[in-house]
Amino acid sequence: MNLKEFIRDVQDFPKPGIGFKDITPLLLNPQALQEGLNQFVKLVEGKKLDKVVSMESRGFFFGPLIANAIGAGFVPVRKPNKLPYETIQQEYALEYGTDILEMHVDAIQKGDKVLIHDDVLATGGTAEAVVKMVEKAGGEVVQLDFLIDLTFLNGKEKLEGYTINSLIKY
Ligand code: PRP
Ligand code: MG
Repeated sequence: MNLKEFIRDVQDFPKPGIGFKDITPLLLNPQALQEGLNQFVKLVEGKKLDKVVSMESRGFFFGPLIANAIGAGFVPVRKPNKLPYETIQQEYALEYGTDILEMHVDAIQKGDKVLIHDDVLATGGTAEAVVKMVEKAGGEVVQLDFLIDLTFLNGKEKLEGYTINSLIKY
């Protein structure tokens, strides 16, 4: 099964001139959803992982599925002021200005082996921020697995030295 066939190109979203990779057809199709999950599980075969960390919002589609399938805990990383308990924070650069991501202070234990998952690797800014936050909390980032890598944006350059996988590349 070719998962790329389930990604829909939407032109001029969210702004004119931008081509958006819409993953909802893949989520909608039960066989494609299962195949995506199977491929993610295969990427961590034989690795003992304690936590899957995913970022709001679109990282939450596969993140908990992967965590459940491999017997790991799931950690949500959220945009500011969404998490109720004490958080650690990480600032990261946007095209214009900066933004902040947050994670609960007790989500990662020292020495935890962590898989970071998100739907798309674009410039790598979001993933880089999550790597920093996980390491600040004492976790060990084992690898980063994405559904889609927009390789022309060179996100991997921000994540040098880390193991990075993606199921679909553009
Ligand atoms: C998108 C995407 C990734 C991030 C990748 O999320 O889901 O999380 O951008 O971009 P980067 O590699 O350039 O950092 P977005 O911030 O649009 O929010 P969403 O997941 O809530 O839709
Ligand atoms: Mg996102």
